[in-house]
Amino acid sequence: MIKGDSEIQNITQIFREKIRGVYEYEKQEGVDEEIIDVVSVFGGILLAVTNPYNFIEKNYICAFPGAMVAVLMLLEPVIRKHSKNLRRLLRIFFTFICAVETLYLINGTLEGFGNFWFALVDYGILLILGMRTAHFICIYHSIIICAVLWTPLYKILPGASAYTFEYRLWFPVTFLSLLALIFYSNLLLKTYQHRSSLDEKRLEMEIKRTKRKNENMVLQAITSISELLDAKDPLTAEHSERVAEYAGLIARRSGIENEREINAIIRAGRLHDIGKMAIPDEILTKKGRLTDQEYETMKMHTIWGREILKNLTFIPEAQEVAGDHHERVDGKGYPKGLAGDEIPKYARIVSVADSLDAMNSNRCYRSCCGKDYIIEQFKQGRGKQFDAHLADIVCELIEDGTIQISSLQEVKDVAEMPKQIHRMEEEVL
Ligand SMILES: [Fe+2]
Repeated sequence: MIKGDSEIQNITQIFREKIRGVYEYEKQEGVDEEIIDVVSVFGGILLAVTNPYNFIEKNYICAFPGAMVAVLMLLEPVIRKHSKNLRRLLRIFFTFICAVETLYLINGTLEGFGNFWFALVDYGILLILGMRTAHFICIYHSIIICAVLWTPLYKILPGASAYTFEYRLWFPVTFLSLLALIFYSNLLLKTYQHRSSLDEKRLEMEIKRTKRKNENMVLQAITSISELLDAKDPLTAEHSERVAEYAGLIARRSGIENEREINAIIRAGRLHDIGKMAIPDEILTKKGRLTDQEYETMKMHTIWGREILKNLTFIPEAQEVAGDHHERVDGKGYPKGLAGDEIPKYARIVSVADSLDAMNSNRCYRSCCGKDYIIEQFKQGRGKQFDAHLADIVCELIEDGTIQISSLQEVKDVAEMPKQIHRMEEEVL
């Protein structure tokens, strides 16, 4: 293969890739409705100004369709708003215009810058329907122009024979030059837009990835703090993790299917007691019963929890759960005394999960915390402390074995465990 051939092949390959890229870009972007309005109204005005010349010349075959096209173009913004399939409507519309143009050409009506109209229509199609459709129309125009002006049709069609030799020569030459110019500039412009759009998407994805990474880091940091909190008290070790797990199971059983929502509940469950970070250690890990004042301080963990998590805007549910997981559906909870549906759904879920873990963990050293006892507690508390539906779900999960209840035998050294149950635990039992 000689060097010239290979260069031509390279250039052709580059053009093919660019055109393919433009096709892809136009398909993604769809029809820009503002451009349709501008092109239609501009074309309509142009035709409305020039078409009366056909009436003056009594060339009614062209004058009436021209007037109809002008009216349609001017009315396009109104038609578009009421159209269900805009693309199909535009295709019909441009087919009609092409038919009118062909009529103009055959009838010998074109003179002066008549070829400009052909190029203008092609440019309009290029802007509105994209390069793929415009290619077909341009090929059609090129064939019909060459056929009418340069084949025996020229002599057969009475209107076409009116064209002078100069006009027959310059019409196709100027038309094809205009087309080449329009297509090449459009190719460059759309290729640039396509690249910019790809860069934008890449940047957008990069920003999203970084944002997600940062969110995870913040979440991990807060979760670690929460785990640290659990670790302070061996009796509540891994409490938050278990509450999160139960909350996820309860949420799924309650009919929530959206994974994002389930994950949000699990994450919020993990952080529900984060406000305890602000509780002095002597109260938090106090052996024995809390005094009234200490209990009031302990209750503040809901308010501090909400405060700590208020800036975690990517999981807004977390602050609701931290703030409202000690509310009761009968309105006797704290800190706000919310009742029923006033308590956010996620907080109601975490509330039952919190109580379940309190009864089903090593804190439960009393003989009353068996499976039957726990189910009984949820039955008694339904519609009072707990959301009735969620309480039923917990009973169901225990009964079908989805949630395993620790038996007293599994709890080591139950008798030796310090009697450090305090009012916070009593409250959830
Ligand atoms: Fe709590």
